Amino acid sequence: MKKLHKMALASLVLLAGVATHAQAQTATKATTKAAKASTVKVTDAEVRQMIESSFTSKGPATVEGVVNQDATQKACSQYPDRTHVPAPVAKKVEAAELKQVKYPSDSNFIGDWKEGEKIAQNGRGMQFSDQVGAPNGANCYACHQLTKAEISFGNIGPSLYNYGKLRGNSQDVIRYTWGKIWDSNAYSACSNMPRFGHKGILTEQQIRDVMALLLDPASPVNQ
Ligand code: HEC
Repeated sequence: MKKLHKMALASLVLLAGVATHAQAQTATKATTKAAKASTVKVTDAEVRQMIESSFTSKGPATVEGVVNQDATQKACSQYPDRTHVPAPVAKKVEAAELKQVKYPSDSNFIGDWKEGEKIAQNGRGMQFSDQVGAPNGANCYACHQLTKAEISFGNIGPSLYNYGKLRGNSQDVIRYTWGKIWDSNAYSACSNMPRFGHKGILTEQQIRDVMALLLDPASPVNQ
């Protein structure tokens, strides 16, 4: 209490902008001390309990979906900075995820790019206001540039404009791209990109259509 009071006072002095140098120094010291004293460690169990007690399952958005982590999510949660996952951990995650990739049963990897564009544009799905079992969108544009026509896109992920034109459509490129969309972590541990196939976000047919958007020479991605 005493510390908090001191901190509030210190902040006020600083905010008022009338502090002398000495006053400002004392104030800064008090603030730092109070900040250190108020650092509270929160355990995973406490976070889980807080989510469970405040989040209500509705439609496809469930408490279990939020709190139940698989081995990869647990491993990745140790590294909030995804660019600093130790190499041995990354290797293990990638190997385990690559094993989970299911390639199309009929070896037909490429669908209809027009459908793929609709899926890439669609950000609906898995939210409390969506219907359970209704098809999901992929929201690729939220993180990637894909075409020249769409100027509203995010840049968490690299631009995929001209993806097929630049990489060609060899068997290797096709299998890599399918694997990446099915389970992004198979090629980049702890990626921020959703594991679309593995988590059942997209169906096999939807992935074919998104593949066509990236790889079909007629797709606007490759113009
Ligand atoms: C929430 C953000 C996010 C969404 C949504 C997303 N991605 Fe990504 N994607 C990323 C990030 C970040 C990377 C780079 C890191 C990595 O490779 O995982 C990436 C990488 C990729 C790559 C590899 C690029 C390369 O140079 O080899 C492909 C292909 C890709 N995304 C396709 C897609 C497609 C298709 C969709 C929609 C079905 C999609 N992404 C949706 C974030 C996202």
